[in-house]
Amino acid sequence: MSQTAAVILAAGLGKRMRSDLPKVLHRVAGRPMLQYVVDAARAACVARIVVVLGHGGEQVRAALDAGIETVVQPEQRGTADAVLTARSLLDGDSTCQDVLIANGDCPLLTGALFQTLIAERRRSGAAIAMVVTPLPDPTGYGRVLRDDSGHVLGVVEEAAANDAERAIREVNAGVYCIDAAWLWERLPAVPRSASGEYYLTDLVALAVADERIVRTIEAPLEITSGVNDRRQLAVAERQLRDRIRQELMLAGVTILDPSTTYVDSMVTIGRDTTLYPGTIIEGSTVIGSGCVIGPYSRIVDSQIGANVIVNASVVEQAKVGDRVKIGPFSHLRPGARIEADAYIGNYAEVKNARIGAASQMHHFSYIGDADIGCGVNVGAGTITCNFDSESGVKNRTTVGDGASLGSDTMLVAPVNVGERAMTGAGSVVNRDVKPEMVVVGVPARPLRRRAPPS
Ligand code: UD1
Ligand code: CA
Repeated sequence: MSQTAAVILAAGLGKRMRSDLPKVLHRVAGRPMLQYVVDAARAACVARIVVVLGHGGEQVRAALDAGIETVVQPEQRGTADAVLTARSLLDGDSTCQDVLIANGDCPLLTGALFQTLIAERRRSGAAIAMVVTPLPDPTGYGRVLRDDSGHVLGVVEEAAANDAERAIREVNAGVYCIDAAWLWERLPAVPRSASGEYYLTDLVALAVADERIVRTIEAPLEITSGVNDRRQLAVAERQLRDRIRQELMLAGVTILDPSTTYVDSMVTIGRDTTLYPGTIIEGSTVIGSGCVIGPYSRIVDSQIGANVIVNASVVEQAKVGDRVKIGPFSHLRPGARIEADAYIGNYAEVKNARIGAASQMHHFSYIGDADIGCGVNVGAGTITCNFDSESGVKNRTTVGDGASLGSDTMLVAPVNVGERAMTGAGSVVNRDVKPEMVVVGVPARPLRRRAPPS
């Protein structure tokens, strides 16, 4: 069977990041960069994926899905040595005809590029097919050496390059597809470089010496960008975010000002939704169709239904039903569940609470640890006094369907307000209110039964 095994190199320290976090776990558009490379390998339908771990190995392994094999490179002696540590897993796997190798610090790599590379190696019978990128400023990358007729002779790392070689603008992207049998036979022959490391790139000269074919395919920096320091991290971030926005726009999302709109890679957004400037959508957020988000809104790990308006507000780990209006200047905190057609107005805060369908909460209010029914009117300035500062306990409030809370009602939890009950302006409700009952005052006392709905 002619399958491919992928080896992803992720053992390096990433010294140039100057970080306590392993380099490949630094996030780009909301996800550790290594995960993008793994996803690209998966998208290329490779049979096996082996990640080479080293620095912060346990932490890196924890970021990988099940089904990804790992191997530990005990000492970081270079990229050739890293691939060699995977040999024990892959050499002798007769189902894998080629080995795809990629650096774990290249988050923009795509499955399509991997597929093209694998196809090119098989078509040409090359020992090595590799990806190259033409760059105006090749600083930091290995340069591709060619003879006068354009045949590849080798790759020279920047540290070892002379002035003429440094002037070469065609760089090695660090992505290779290699004939598996040849790789496992010849990899141990890679010499130690002057820096003391074993460079995988020296395999290219070995293939040439063996009179084997070396092929190159070209890909732009928008795909091959590598991250060695935080400046390059920012470049990759910009490129990936740009790709995400392009994909969203092609899928029917309007983005008024792409340069001020940030969307993480795992976010999904329905068609005919409009994103206004200054909007940041993060994590695992799902947004339905026909919504208007922003300007100046931040949505994190939330589910937003269809035709929702989020205006200048912050929404975190919340669930929002269809046609809800939020803002301006509202804050939905973790556990907020806003049902369809509700209105969460100016300066409203909701935490760990349900706001039932078609309820109205227009002005200056805080509802926390509560269950507010459907069609409830939450008057201006209403708050749940959910925190008992003597016991340190947060208590719950429930408000029945159709209730009406007058302006400035204090709901001193634990407390229950019955269906269609009503509180007067400024009432401090510290005892349960029966359904249909109107209460007023401090503390609130029954006044009369509420009139039936007209
Ligand atoms: C490497 C290439 C360079 C290419 C560039 C493209 C080599 C010698 N050089 O340089 O030609 O232009 O990528 O981005 O391969 N790693 C290990 N174990 C090690 C050393 C590194 O797993 O012992 C991993 C790192 O975690 C990283 C990857 O290999 O993910 C590449 O290493 P890095 O040091 O970033 O290589 P570059 O200097 O970028
Ligand atoms: Ca690198």
